[in-house]
Amino acid sequence: MENDLLLRALRREPVPRPPVWLMRQAGRYLPQYRALRERVDFMTLLRTPELAVEVTLQPVEAVGVDAAIIFCDILVIPDAMGMALSVEEGTGPRLANPIRSPGDVSRLRPFQPEVSLGAELAAVRMAAEALGGQLPLIGFAGGPWTLASYMIEGGGTRDFRRVKRFLAEQPAAAHHLLGLLAEAAGDWLVAQADAGANVVQLFESWGGALGPRDFSSFVLPYLARAVAAPAARGVPVIVFAPGAGWALEAIAETTGAAALGIDSATAPENARRRLAPYAVTLQGNLDPGWLYAPPATVRERTREMVAAFGPRAYIANLGHGVFRDTPVGHVRAFVEAVREGVGYE
Ligand code: CP3
Repeated sequence: MENDLLLRALRREPVPRPPVWLMRQAGRYLPQYRALRERVDFMTLLRTPELAVEVTLQPVEAVGVDAAIIFCDILVIPDAMGMALSVEEGTGPRLANPIRSPGDVSRLRPFQPEVSLGAELAAVRMAAEALGGQLPLIGFAGGPWTLASYMIEGGGTRDFRRVKRFLAEQPAAAHHLLGLLAEAAGDWLVAQADAGANVVQLFESWGGALGPRDFSSFVLPYLARAVAAPAARGVPVIVFAPGAGWALEAIAETTGAAALGIDSATAPENARRRLAPYAVTLQGNLDPGWLYAPPATVRERTREMVAAFGPRAYIANLGHGVFRDTPVGHVRAFVEAVREGVGYE
């Protein structure tokens, strides 16, 4: 691979500078993406491999990142299990007929990526081919808890009322659902790796919704199962559980992930100190809000971040996804500040 900085950082090998990419780098802050979306709706983009590949490659060209992440969505798993996904302007993603009873769980279709997600897999294959060994390709899946939450709530939520009610009233069905989703997420990551993804990331985006006792019971064991499948094949796995910074040690210990995403609420020095006993690479964590600052400030903040994490076993990224109205030039300033390697020896 021509630029294998990401793979080396994941192996904790020395690198001349850290690799850099951004969560949500393939998306709406790019005028090229918005132009394409004027013509094609989101679900069609997802299911048209040529277009998904085009979007995947846009940030490589536009901002010079060290890895591409496949353009897809975490909610393709529930969609493939029979819950129709729709994404509408302003309302966010919706899943049809949310799960409200144990019977709803038993009616889910078995997850068969080759059958239901053929177009998405073709996109991974074509993106890997288009990258031609120049840059690594990142595949991804939603974490079991985050997927279960979407499937029970039917969409986004502020208070997690329905999913928490389900955990309390139907704990056995909840564990059954989480087991199915751990299996599905693991299988989906393996399928993407088989199709050419070099690295995979689990987005446990709603990891912050539960306290320690419930996190240990409903999140950790299922995350560990989802990590195990690709890890057993030697595919490096990044686990990102924003809002659960307090649980970093437990996530490292239980999942054995190659890397952990650090959100903006955790200080780099704090994460480094607490994770020192584990052989784990850290990824993060500039608050995406700072990309609204003038480029000179973005550079300063970025150099500070890199210095605080240290150049080894580190992947420069944001602490969460890039906001949709971020100026592209500011994203470029972030990437360049890492690439120029100022701020560390
Ligand atoms: O990172 C990337 O660039 C790869 C593509 C990617 C998308 N979604 C594309 C997308 C990734 C990695 C995701 C993950 C995802 N999807 C998460 C976890 C990420 C995180 O930040 O924690 C979640 C929670 C989802 C569910 C989802 N899908 C949401 C919340 C939205 C946005 C809805 C909205 O209208 O704001 C989507 C749709 C979606 N997925 C878009 C993109 C670029 C925007 C759709 C559009 O073009 O209108």
